[in-house]
Amino acid sequence: MVWASGWRLASAVSNAGGLGLIGAGSMYPEVLLEHIKKCQKATDKPFGVNIPMLYPDVERIIDICITSGVKIVFTSAGNPKTWTTHLKQHGITVVHVVSSVKFAQKAEQAGVDALVAEGFEAGGHNGRDETTTMTLIPIVKEKIDIPLIAAGGISSGRSMLAAMVLGADGVQIGSRFVASIEASSHQLFKQEVVKAGEGDTQLTLKELTPVRLIKNKFYQDVQQAYANGASVEDLKVLLGRSRAKKGMFEGDLEEGELEIGQVAALIHEIQPASEIVAQIMQGFRKAIAEITTWN
Ligand SMILES: Cc1cc2nc3c(=O)[nH]c(=O)nc-3n(C[C@H](O)[C@H](O)[C@H](O)COP(=O)(O)O)c2cc1C
Repeated sequence: MVWASGWRLASAVSNAGGLGLIGAGSMYPEVLLEHIKKCQKATDKPFGVNIPMLYPDVERIIDICITSGVKIVFTSAGNPKTWTTHLKQHGITVVHVVSSVKFAQKAEQAGVDALVAEGFEAGGHNGRDETTTMTLIPIVKEKIDIPLIAAGGISSGRSMLAAMVLGADGVQIGSRFVASIEASSHQLFKQEVVKAGEGDTQLTLKELTPVRLIKNKFYQDVQQAYANGASVEDLKVLLGRSRAKKGMFEGDLEEGELEIGQVAALIHEIQPASEIVAQIMQGFRKAIAEITTWN
């Protein structure tokens, strides 16, 4: 996750038994290299790097992953055909993030090893079709044969089990880890996530890249621009550069973009990542035990 998943969070998640990911999308190549090296020192467990493929320096980012010995890459926001073969030729496992069946099939054809199917509830950049996780997972499952990871709206063992019952082989959890001690997100943003309730986030800026945001002043400014009949160009100007950094990393809760999922309504405290993983796994086992009493 941009502005949240540096080496501290990725290694903490991996050490706790999950697969931690470094979010390359907010890092200059040399910064990413530093995070990879620190992550390698901080954990001997597997971890990966998420690369949004629209990133301007994507070639260098890919090269750094290959030369520094990264074994798992999650690609998002772009065509999986462009880099999958190259990454796999270097022994890297490639997982691609999609938000629709059409893109899931394209990614499978491109040869990725697994898919993340991310529903409309999710924090961050999102699909245009507004397909929720509840609907997306079974329809993607019906059409693909490779392992499927569900994302969007999952924050507990209960929701993890639900996603797996729908057909997922695993889950990707974002928002809950933003509110972790190890996330590099600004403390004020983390506190805002804890405060957010049901209905406090909305998907917006569909004409650019759809993104789910907390409804803060910047979000209201975007809504006002729509009401005034803003063109795509106007929206681009309003968004400008570095809005995400301003909100999530620098803690400007008014002028910045605050990317988080609907599930923020279920996040009640800022916790160590290891505690989050342990709670989720405990909740998962408890939910299975509850279900097995049903018949
Ligand atoms: C602050 C934030 C930043 C994110 N950045 C990225 C990113 O750079 N690349 C990506 O593929 N997904 C990104 N995501 C999406 C997550 O990887 C994950 O799929 C999503 O958060 C899952 O839904 P949830 O928020 O309901 O847990 C981001 C999510 C958040 C909340």
